[in-house]
Amino acid sequence: MRLILITLLLWTMVACDSLHSNSSNHQSEDHSQVDKHSYANLDKIHTKHLHLELDVDFKNRTIYGVARHEMINNGADTAIFDINGLMIQKVTIGQKGSEEEADMFIDKMDKDSILGQPLMVPIKKDTKFVNIYYQTTERSDALDWLDTNLTTSKTKPFLYTQGQAILTRTWIPLQDSPSNRITYSADVKVPSDLLAVMSASNPTEKNESGKYHFEMNKPIPAYLIALAVGDLKYHAFSSNSGVYAETELLPSCVYEFDAIPKMISAAEKLYGPYQWGQYDILVLPYSFPFGGMENPMLTFANPTLLAGDKSLVSVIAHELAHSWSGNLVTNRTWNDFWLNEGFTVYFEQRIMESIYGKEVADILALIEFDELKDELTRIQSSEHPDDSKLHLALSGRNPDDGMTDIAYVKGAFFLKTLEQQVGRDKFDPFLKKYFETFQFKTVDATQFTAFLTKELLEKNHQSFNYDAWIYEEGLPDNCIQLHSVRLDRMAQLADDFVHGKVTFAPKVRYTWKKVGKRKRKIKHIEQIKYQDHIVQEWQTFIRRLPRNLSLTKMKEIDRYLHFSNSGNSELLMEWFVLSAHCNYVPQNKAQIAQFLGKVGRRKYLMPIYEALLLNRKTRDFAVQTFNGAKGHYHAVSRNSVADLIKSTK
Ligand code: BES
Ligand code: ZN
Repeated sequence: MRLILITLLLWTMVACDSLHSNSSNHQSEDHSQVDKHSYANLDKIHTKHLHLELDVDFKNRTIYGVARHEMINNGADTAIFDINGLMIQKVTIGQKGSEEEADMFIDKMDKDSILGQPLMVPIKKDTKFVNIYYQTTERSDALDWLDTNLTTSKTKPFLYTQGQAILTRTWIPLQDSPSNRITYSADVKVPSDLLAVMSASNPTEKNESGKYHFEMNKPIPAYLIALAVGDLKYHAFSSNSGVYAETELLPSCVYEFDAIPKMISAAEKLYGPYQWGQYDILVLPYSFPFGGMENPMLTFANPTLLAGDKSLVSVIAHELAHSWSGNLVTNRTWNDFWLNEGFTVYFEQRIMESIYGKEVADILALIEFDELKDELTRIQSSEHPDDSKLHLALSGRNPDDGMTDIAYVKGAFFLKTLEQQVGRDKFDPFLKKYFETFQFKTVDATQFTAFLTKELLEKNHQSFNYDAWIYEEGLPDNCIQLHSVRLDRMAQLADDFVHGKVTFAPKVRYTWKKVGKRKRKIKHIEQIKYQDHIVQEWQTFIRRLPRNLSLTKMKEIDRYLHFSNSGNSELLMEWFVLSAHCNYVPQNKAQIAQFLGKVGRRKYLMPIYEALLLNRKTRDFAVQTFNGAKGHYHAVSRNSVADLIKSTK
């Protein structure tokens, strides 16, 4: 009976709502129900400012919270929020201190449990303040609670959140759509021996009360709200940049990321002033599922970036670039994720070029282009061949499905091709104007192409096949072609090695030198060494090797180049995948198990697990390793690997 009543009520609310669907929208942003990944009725009512009161309880692995929404109400009689894995205690209406408890209805999950549930609050047409009292649960997938043993210090626990794409609703009840921007503030209480930091203005030291206040005064999309709590120390690189990490990791962070101030200047020179005041990095524990996450003012970074040789800093350039592409100008829906990531990869390569030169930037771009080619082949024979379009059709699917090299690399090569055609002297001011025009707004592909046509193509009397790039599958023929002599040489080295023309063993040669009246024999040792090349060159070398390379050759590589024991995670990933293909795993099982047991970055886990799972001889090892490690992967990685195990059965 109760259920029927709720259903009836829901129906009435939906019916009432639709009466207002023609009401005019006074906001500058288009809030019509464009985002199929949110239940929120943004066209009727949307949050302008969110204030959070959070109590972080490590013992119960729970955040107890109040989410106070200050809203712009265009005459709605219901406010709809997204929730997923949250327990809602009560909802009140009105400003703090004069609140009244309100009714609320929670509808059921969508069929695939991707979106979570709509939380519906009947309101008055002039209601502005809605407060949601809640607590997180075990199903709050954004949260990664880490026991002390999973941190570097092994003495203090750690918590961090990962919101993108639609996980913010698993730790905060809100309108979880990138099409709405909000400012936020927070009062956070944590154990007094830990420091709390957010994607906002941050403290640099712990205080005894364990209470911290945060402000993000620029409007951001909900997926960029982030929190981390741990035993953190801060090191400043400059007056507006620095790094947070556990004490033990701080010196290597300081060494690895010292180019940050230079990167900020390079980025500003290209596309205008950095708008967020502070730019800090937070180095997280190894379970962090991404290389980096562009939380505003505080990029979250994976400790695998600490390669010891600054070889992976392009990830930092990438996250910094998001301060323009993504954070300042944001994709309106996840269907245009390429507007975030493709622009960012392009921008990342420009930053890298201005600091390290064109040769290195081209090498980085080619490494990615190689991956794009494989991705295109995979997508073509998948159930969604149209995933190779830049503009995606993700409704009814998990927006994470759009996180492929299409958005990233095809997106970047679209811009590189365009740049090559019109010339940098035209392209750079165009992009700068794009960021200026759309700053603190959201964009979709249609708006971008309109702007492109008006501001770049028509002005310069040019035409460009942007529709083919955005709305057609595959890669258009006019895609820019890059070359790298250094990578070509590495491919040749791989071929020569396979054909026995080259070995990595030292070769001894003698020459004679006249010393006074006597001749002296001089010994020369010639050997190709790991240090002779950068990691991206070795990646090319490994990728070029046949997937059935002999054990003798695999052993030779390991003996002289020590790949199985490399400290570089990019290289380890390539090598472990090849190892699985070549049945070399009995030789480096311990190293693979150690890596999978420690690192939670999805980009590495997926190819390694996939290769192990697809080989009959290593499948059991893969499943066992996963069962041992899954407890300390973030839900993002855990769920992805679990799906992989099912789909490779
Ligand atoms: N914003 C992404 C991470 C992301 C995307 C998280 C979609 C959740 C959903 C971040 O900027 C990113 O792209 N990270 C990359 C690094 C980059 C150099 C390609 C990563 O983690 O590998
Ligand atoms: Zn990115």
